[in-house]
Amino acid sequence: MFVLENGARFVIPRTEMTYPGHNLKLHQNAADPQKSPVDHVMADFEDACPYEFKGEKSRKVMVEALNTLDFGRKVVTVRPNNIHSPFFKGDIEAIVLGAPNRFHGIMLPKTRNGEEIKQVARLLDDLEKRAGWKYQLQIESLIETPQALVHAYEIATASPRMAGLVFGIADFAANLGIREIVENQNQNFHYAKQAVVVAAKAAGLHAVDNVYLRLWRKEDSPERVAELQRGLREKNQGAANLGMDGTWVIHPQQAPICNEVFTPTTDQVEEARRVIRLYHEKGGGSMADPKSGEMIDEATIKIALMDLAKGAQAGMVSQAELKEWSEKSRAITGYDILELMRRVA
Ligand code: GLV
Ligand code: MG
Repeated sequence: MFVLENGARFVIPRTEMTYPGHNLKLHQNAADPQKSPVDHVMADFEDACPYEFKGEKSRKVMVEALNTLDFGRKVVTVRPNNIHSPFFKGDIEAIVLGAPNRFHGIMLPKTRNGEEIKQVARLLDDLEKRAGWKYQLQIESLIETPQALVHAYEIATASPRMAGLVFGIADFAANLGIREIVENQNQNFHYAKQAVVVAAKAAGLHAVDNVYLRLWRKEDSPERVAELQRGLREKNQGAANLGMDGTWVIHPQQAPICNEVFTPTTDQVEEARRVIRLYHEKGGGSMADPKSGEMIDEATIKIALMDLAKGAQAGMVSQAELKEWSEKSRAITGYDILELMRRVA
C-alpha cells in the first residue's frame, strides 16, 4: 500500500500504467486524468527505454516531466535500470536529487533478494537527505527472476519503504525458457502468481499482476476488439481470484476494463454489508444465509469485510463504517484482518 500525504491518504493501485520515460509526450498523456484513467503510473528508464536514450538523455526528460507536470491524484513512480546495470546509480541520483518531493516511489526491476532492497533503501536515505525530501520514497519490487520468487518474502520485508510486489511475467518467462506469456497465463504461471500474492500479503503489501500484451488497433474488426477485451478481462478476473489487488497496464486503452475488474460492484458492496449485518444480528457462529443458502461463519464474514475495504478504497464505503465492522470482529477474534493485510493506513 502506498501511504501518501504524511499518512492522510493510502492507495492500493488497481491499475499501474507503464510507459517509456524518455518521451515527454508520453508523460503528458500519463498525467492527463481523461487520457489515462489509472491509479498509478510508472515511467520507465529500463526495458522500454531505447538504447540511444539511456543515461543523460532519458534522465533529462524524466526530471523535467516530474518537475513540471501535474499528475493529480495518481501515484507516480519511476523504474530505474536494474541494480547491476551501469545506469542504475545515475538514474536514481538524477531523479531523487533532481525532482525532490515530486514523485512517490521507485519500482525496482530484476530484484534478486532482500539485500538489494536494503542497498537501494540506503542509497535513497542518503540522496533524500541531500535533496531535502519531506517524505520517504516507497519501493515496489518486480518479482521477475526465479531468485526473486524464491526470496519474495525476504524482499517484501527488507525495508519499511516496501509498498508492493509486482509480477513481471515477461522476464520471468524468459528466465524459465517459457515462450507463451498471454494464453492460459493464470494456469501456466499459477504457482508464481500465487507465490507473489502470498509473499506480498504475508508482509502486508499489495500484489500487482503482470502486463497483458495484446492491444487492439483502429483497423481491428469489432469482433476482434471484443475478443481482445474479453481476453484482458478474463486474465484480470483470474488474477483477482488469486488475490492480486490490481494489474500492470501498458496502454490507457486497458485502464477502464482493469479498473472495473479490481473494483467491487455496488451489488457486491451491498451484499457484503447485508451478510455482515445479518451475521452480527444473529450473534455469530455458523449459519445458513437465508437468501443464498450458503453457509457463513466468521471466516466468510472476513471475506465480506475485505470487499467493504476495497469499497472504501473506491470511495463507495466510509472509513467510519469499515472501522465499525472491523472493530466488532476484532473484539471477538483479537485481531483485525484489515490491519494484518494493511487495508487501513
Ligand atoms: C516486466 O518487467 C516484465 O518483465 O514482465
Ligand atoms: Mg521485466
